[in-house]
Amino acid sequence: MNNKMERILVIGAIGQIGSELTLELRKRYGNNNVIASDVRNSPPPAIKENGIFETIDVMDKEALRTIIKKHNIDSIFHLAAILSAVGEKDPQLCWNININGSLNVLNLAVEMKLNRIIIPSSMAAWGKNVEKENVKQDSVLQPTSMYGVTKVAGELLCDYYVSKFGLDCRGLRYPGIISHETLPGGGTTDYAVDIFYSAVKGEKYKCFLSENTMLPMMFMGDCIKATVELAEADFNNLIHHSNFNVAAMSFTPKQLFEEIKKFRPDFEIEYVPDFRQEIADSWVYSIDDSAARKEWNWKPDYDITAMTKRMLEVLTEKHKNGLI
Ligand SMILES: NC(=O)c1ccc[n+]([C@@H]2O[C@H](COP(=O)([O-])OP(=O)(O)OC[C@H]3O[C@@H](n4cnc5c(N)ncnc54)[C@H](O)[C@@H]3O)[C@@H](O)[C@H]2O)c1
Repeated sequence: MNNKMERILVIGAIGQIGSELTLELRKRYGNNNVIASDVRNSPPPAIKENGIFETIDVMDKEALRTIIKKHNIDSIFHLAAILSAVGEKDPQLCWNININGSLNVLNLAVEMKLNRIIIPSSMAAWGKNVEKENVKQDSVLQPTSMYGVTKVAGELLCDYYVSKFGLDCRGLRYPGIISHETLPGGGTTDYAVDIFYSAVKGEKYKCFLSENTMLPMMFMGDCIKATVELAEADFNNLIHHSNFNVAAMSFTPKQLFEEIKKFRPDFEIEYVPDFRQEIADSWVYSIDDSAARKEWNWKPDYDITAMTKRMLEVLTEKHKNGLI
């Protein structure tokens, strides 16, 4: 298996994760070797100014083929997806983009003999019929959201392409991702980002989940680290491929609120659960990531305190400068 990762295409590069992953990949592999792409033609300056950006709809297989050829791509990070909350409002769109988009990437990877494909999964892959605490790597997957259904099917597709075609395809089940650069794209854990914006603006936060909803979360620094470390791991050391559990911290809205209050004592919150509560209630509290720790040495850097401190530092500065 030729496993070189030298010419990289990021699909969904201006989303919450793609916007930061693209910059890290450019640091590691060179600005000109990492092509950013998205269906939206509005890359932020940081992405537009230091490398190439292409507008691509992942549903258009031939356009994707042209871009792969044009830039001599050997590896793809495929991040384009419809997330949980948006997916529950339009399940058909969620299925189309998440499944058919991934199939286009996987089929082109086989046809064009690409070296490596990374497609993230999500903690939404589990459903209600699973242990809530420290859910195991190989526990049963019975999601009740369309997003979760597409994530399970996506994992199975990737594993199928590994065994059927010998494709080097990897993926990890992100928990809720917390970041200060790009706003999240319509997921059930978005509250854990929104809350910081209210805190630095001195506004009361209206939380769409109830106060005791425990969910696994991860700071963006760790999300990027996990993605890059898995992508760079020796394929021969991997027993799993498309579905690695990764964990960093778990907390409830109330615990996060209390953590923020240590820095902002006047901060206020009210809980007004909406349709996202039902999605959150079907998810697990915490994740056992021992397979990732064993197979590619995964270890997170940020806990709730370190994450909260960093989020407040960065967003306070942005607010002072009129950027948010
Ligand atoms: N952010 C999280 O908390 C989280 C948690 C678990 C899993 N994930 C997974 O991580 C991956 C990236 O998520 P994200 O949070 O960055 O999502 P996001 O919604 O912020 O970004 C997705 C990007 O894909 C683009 N896109 C949508 N449809 C497209 C299409 N047809 N063609 C090309 N681009 C298209 C969007 O414009 C957007 O910029 C997804 O697979 C998601 O399921 C994210």
